[in-house]
Amino acid sequence: MSRQKVVLIPGDGIGPEITAATTRVIAAAGADIEWVLCLAGESALEQEGEVLPQRTIDAISEHNVALKGPCTTPVGKGFKSVNVQLRKAFDLYAAVRPVRNLPGVETRFSDVDLIVIRENTESLYSGVEAEITPGVVTSTKVATVKGCTRIAKWAFEYARAKGRKKVTAFHKANIMKLTDGMFLRCAEEVHRDYPDIEYTTAIIDAACMRMVQDPTQFDMLLLENLYGDVVSDLAAGLVGGLGVTPGANFGEDRAIFEAVHGSAPDIAGQDKANPLALLMSGVMMLKHLTETSGDESYAEAAEKIKAAYDSCLQAGEKTADLGGKLGTQAFADAVIARLQ
Ligand code: NAI
Repeated sequence: MSRQKVVLIPGDGIGPEITAATTRVIAAAGADIEWVLCLAGESALEQEGEVLPQRTIDAISEHNVALKGPCTTPVGKGFKSVNVQLRKAFDLYAAVRPVRNLPGVETRFSDVDLIVIRENTESLYSGVEAEITPGVVTSTKVATVKGCTRIAKWAFEYARAKGRKKVTAFHKANIMKLTDGMFLRCAEEVHRDYPDIEYTTAIIDAACMRMVQDPTQFDMLLLENLYGDVVSDLAAGLVGGLGVTPGANFGEDRAIFEAVHGSAPDIAGQDKANPLALLMSGVMMLKHLTETSGDESYAEAAEKIKAAYDSCLQAGEKTADLGGKLGTQAFADAVIARLQ
């Protein structure tokens, strides 16, 4: 087995608890990883004087892969989101968020199996905001042909690689005719090269209603940045909440794996957080390590972890957000005990 170096960013709030739980499970599954510990977020500001230290950027540049806990962003004031800064620094333009029902986690629907693909670098997240005059502020939504085309291509490539049948773009091009209009035109153009995959579009407000009425009618969703952010959480709610929804951010050469949820300050430091979403992100990371290194042992460790947490959930070994009684570390222990 070739030992891979992976940057580990514990993050803020529940981040240190869930990253500790996740790395313990990954080690117990036999994946040979050397973690390169780096800080980002409030913890980095406190300990190293800046929210995104150069050391963290250099480490990700060097090792290409990171597993990241959530980082807190002040609301309505203060520093720019570290998460957004990281995605921009490495041009991690494609966020992938699989949303599936899990065994033992009962929800209204039983066969949800969606993949949300979110454009990660443009839209209203461009940070172009201005005060035109006191009492009047603007936020600029940015869309480029390059950005819209590459995310569409990424989505269709991913669909083909994973044997998916249909991609649906959510939009509001009836109102934002230029920006969302460009997003749709680029996706349509890209789709010409993928006739084997069905492509449909849906206006986002009605699409959200359809999602909560019957999410099984969707397969893969393609969304610009803000819509992707919002719809990811909506989709998480369909399968048990933020504790069970993993994610990954991909660029051309680098990838950062992180859960969809945030730093959950309301439960931080109490051993209450569900580490599963980050653990599932870790499973995605292990599969990625096999793809980049050719070493099958990472994918094997991923399968073992997946089987172990499925078996825990089925046996009712769950954290409180899923109706169980286990704390963060006890859940990690339960998964480790079921590794085979
Ligand atoms: P949040 O996702 O942190 O929390 C929303 C609700 O879900 C809370 O009640 C929380 O307790 C619960 N929750 C979240 N993760 C959970 C888990 N693993 N187990 C059990 N319950 C969980 O969203 P919120 O409160 O809007 O944001 C808090 C902070 O996180 C903000 O500063 C925000 O900017 C940041 N954030 C960071 C993200 C990242 O680092 N990628 C993503 C989203 C938000």
